Parts: sequence; structure tokens; C-alpha cells
Amino acid sequence: MSDLQARIDASTAVLRQVATEFSPAVFASSLAAEDMVLTDLILRNALPIGIFTLDTGRLHAETLAMLDTIATHYGQAISVYRPAPEAVEAYVSAHGLNAFYNSIALRHACCQVRKVEPLNRALQGQRAWITGQRRAQAVTRADLPVHEHDSARGMEKFNPLADWSEADVWNYIRAQGVPYNPLHDQGYPSIGCAPCTRAIEPGEDVRAGRWWWENPDQKECGLHLVDGKLIRIKQVSA
Ligand code: ADX
Ligand code: SF4
Repeated sequence: MSDLQARIDASTAVLRQVATEFSPAVFASSLAAEDMVLTDLILRNALPIGIFTLDTGRLHAETLAMLDTIATHYGQAISVYRPAPEAVEAYVSAHGLNAFYNSIALRHACCQVRKVEPLNRALQGQRAWITGQRRAQAVTRADLPVHEHDSARGMEKFNPLADWSEADVWNYIRAQGVPYNPLHDQGYPSIGCAPCTRAIEPGEDVRAGRWWWENPDQKECGLHLVDGKLIRIKQVSA
């Protein structure tokens, strides 16, 4: 069996375990490549796991277009959560539309309004959530376990692709004909909000284009932080 097939089998087993032992569970999809692999594994195996995305209001048109692409390809729509309009208005009128360039605090505040609060809403009533994070993506993810306990939210958190390489992701996408965001072919290996993502040069780190004005060890958006810090409180399994 190839290494990739072994990884596919292991990740599918994790998803099955989540669906059977930790229901109700949901998968948070950014609509980027890793998350298309998980979307494909969930839908191909008809696993009872909800899929949602957070539309921050600052996504690229290409990313938003993935919603229609997925609905057409799989015949199934994914849920969309959006920030509270009054919270966005309050942020913009107090600080300005693009204030996240001015300080890390204002960047985290924008992510809080546009991503973290909608994420918390999407996770209400769930026992577990799933992400497409990989260890090789960033220094902040080097010790990422497959199964964590998200103590801040009192729920389980699974990262079924933790040990996948970028090549594994693309080999899977190509072999299975999985649709993907066309920005990946234009120098964007990692895609977030448009004003906070730029294309990278060959040889640059895959997340070099995310919040490129910040230090690599601070580049987490808040979705995976606990009280503003990156803490792996309880690793359940690697
Ligand atoms: S992050 O810093 O933006 O979180 P990245 O883009 O690498 O980093 O995403 C990591 C994981 O966070 C994704 O695989 C996905 O599970 C979740 N995630 C990120 N952005 C979103 C989004 N807009 N909607 C839903 N989930 C997201
Ligand atoms: Fe705001 Fe940028 Fe965070 Fe998006 S990534 S929520 S635009 S700071």
C-alpha cells in the first residue's frame, strides 16, 4: 500500500470515529486545498458530519465561487456563517476597514469579529469539530495532534490531516478529480481573507503570504487559539 493510501485510510478512520463516537460533529472548511480533501472524504463516504465555512466578508471572489463549485460537483451545499453586521460596523467605524495592518491587537480584533465569533456560533451544540490543519504548514503547528481537547469550548477537536504533506494533498486532489480554488495555481498555497493573503515566490514558506507583515510565530488567526494563546492543552492522540 502506498504511503498516501495509508494516510487516506487513517484519516478516513478518524472521520468515521468522529461520526460514530463524537456526534454531532462538524467540519470547518476554509474552502482551501486541505479542506477540499476532507470535504471529499466526508461526502464520498456519506459520513454524518456537517460542513460549514465562515464567510468573513473579506474573502476573494474565487474562494466564494467554491461554494457553487462544491454544490455542483457533490450535489450538496455547505453551510455558511457570517459575522454579526453590527460588530463589523462597530470595528470599522472605531478603527477603519483595514485597521488590521496597524497592530497585532487590531488584527486579532478583526479576526475575532469576522471569524472567531461566527465560529463559536457554528460550533454551538456540537460535540466535536474538525479542521484541515497540517503539522508541516507552520511553526505554530509543528506539534499538532490528530485529536485535541478544546477546553475553551468544552469539546473535542480533530485534525485528521495532521501528518499529510503538501504533496499528499495535491496527489489526492489530482487522483480523485477534487475541485479546488483556482488561486492555488496563481501562487497562493494558503488562502485566507483577501487583504491578509498575498501570493508567494517559489521557495517561500507555504504560509509566507498569510499576514506577511507579522512574525511567523504569531500567525494564527484566533480560530485555533485559546484565550489569545496557542496552547495545546490536552493532546489525546498524535
Ligand atoms: S487559519 O489561520 O486561517 O486558521 P488556515 O487557512 O491554514 O489557517 O486554516 C486552518 C484550518 O482552519 C482550516 O483547515 C479550517 O479547518 C479552519 N478555517 C480557516 N479559515 C476558515 C474559514 N473561513 N471557515 C471555516 N474554517 C476555516
Ligand atoms: Fe480581518 Fe484579515 Fe483576520 Fe480576515 S484575516 S478577519 S480581514 S484580520
